[in-house]
Amino acid sequence: METTWYKDAVFYQISVRAFKDSNGDGYGDLRGLEQKLEYIRDLGIDCIWLMPIYPSPLRDDGYDIADYCNVAEMYGNLDDLKSLIQTAHSLDIRIIMDLVLNHTSDEHPWFKASRSDKNSPYRDYYVWSDTDQKYKDTRIIFLDTEPSNWTLDEKTGQYYWHRFYASQPDLNFDNPKVQEEMLNVASFWLDLGIDGFRADAVPYLFEREGTNCENLPETHIYLKGLRTFMDTNYPGRILLCEANQWPEDVRPYFGDGDEFHMGFHFPIMPRIYMALKKERPDDMIEILRRTPTIPENCQWCIFLRNHDELTLEMVTPEERDWMWQQYAPEPNMKLNLGIRRRLSSLLDDDRCKIELANSILFTLPGSPIIYYGDEIGMGDNLDLFDRNGVRTPMQWDNSPNAGFTSGKPFTEFVKDGRSYEHINVASQMADQDSLFHAISRMVNTRKAHHVFGRGSMEWIETNNPSMAIYIRKYQGETLLIVNNLSSSAQTVSLPAELHADYIELLSNIRQQINSSITLEPYDHLWLKRE
Ligand code: GLC
Repeated sequence: METTWYKDAVFYQISVRAFKDSNGDGYGDLRGLEQKLEYIRDLGIDCIWLMPIYPSPLRDDGYDIADYCNVAEMYGNLDDLKSLIQTAHSLDIRIIMDLVLNHTSDEHPWFKASRSDKNSPYRDYYVWSDTDQKYKDTRIIFLDTEPSNWTLDEKTGQYYWHRFYASQPDLNFDNPKVQEEMLNVASFWLDLGIDGFRADAVPYLFEREGTNCENLPETHIYLKGLRTFMDTNYPGRILLCEANQWPEDVRPYFGDGDEFHMGFHFPIMPRIYMALKKERPDDMIEILRRTPTIPENCQWCIFLRNHDELTLEMVTPEERDWMWQQYAPEPNMKLNLGIRRRLSSLLDDDRCKIELANSILFTLPGSPIIYYGDEIGMGDNLDLFDRNGVRTPMQWDNSPNAGFTSGKPFTEFVKDGRSYEHINVASQMADQDSLFHAISRMVNTRKAHHVFGRGSMEWIETNNPSMAIYIRKYQGETLLIVNNLSSSAQTVSLPAELHADYIELLSNIRQQINSSITLEPYDHLWLKRE
């Protein structure tokens, strides 16, 4: 079990810039994060995912990297990272970081050299073309800002390929030198003690005419090579796959257990929100039925929110419109094919709905990730550009600047009713009935039972369609999970084979079920069979 620790783990995603400033320059940094590790331990977290900390012009919040083997000055230096890793490990917390393989910043020295001259030895590090008519079947991802995946470079008269912003030219993975450079980058951070990577935007590494340039066989070959390289030289470190794709298209990223250890399950996420609004679990049931089984040593990664817009790529156009109607009533809440709001705002800051969504997150198969701040119900700031509205500073307490910085913060905080005067870590830690403690209880309960991360799952059909009820089983342990998706109290009769004695894990209360049970609006029970 030790080698597959990630199957039982709870993850926590952090924007270092927005987490905690230690030196008063207004930007969060690695030392600041180190000071807050005990908070993260108290929440019950096993593994942190650090968003990019590389030197970057920050046109895509650090996903545009100008130097792969360094830490941006505003975050500290490599020694600070080593110290962070050491302290985290002493608290039994692992750290993975973003590895951006697909593209660099246009300010990366490779690209500067590449664009300087058609004969540069670096020309072939990127994808150049005389026309912008190649790879026409490829979709544009940043629809709100990018008219094309090609941008003309005036100086050399050729176009370069980019799947994201024009300031993020795609690397040319057909070039063996590029392939090797990126293995070196991985090994640089693994040598420093990083426990693995969240590999960014992996479906797009290669381009082939006549395809949509996603999930190509060549991509899988390269990624398998990266895995073999890591297993050989750094056993126990993990790879988490960011492929925003349908389950059947993510399945190959697990290979035969020899590609990624983990992969995000993108399509389940919007369906949890659908279930809450429709008061019906059907969409969740359907997508999980459609989800192929994965190798024993692999794990899905599930989440409610992250640093991007709540993506609606993995739903039908009708479902997308419906989601926008329900969850993005104001035009500036929409972004690309998604919604740029935080969990708490999406769920009307309703404590019961937030806990219910988390109950679902924590009891479905897979390992959950919490987006920093969602454990205290932080809000968003829609006045900020693009996805910055959901990347505002962590609200530590009600002192000036939220205890985030003693200087001038790099950005605005969340305002009005959701500002740090009202919502902050200090007040929630002090209050046993707070959302923080409710979430922390879920995290810690989950960690005490392997069945959550490793067990089978079976939906239970009942006479009440607004309940999401399922059984999780692992090595003799059986859980009956009951979620009431409805805004009113609901009673459900359970099949005779489920009549038994249980203990509710979150409250530690014994409960005998001999016919039906009734749940308050949006309530949930995690029942362990005795
Ligand atoms: C991933 C990241 C996103 C970034 C993009 C390009 O989708 O989650 O934040 O903009 O890759 O690197």
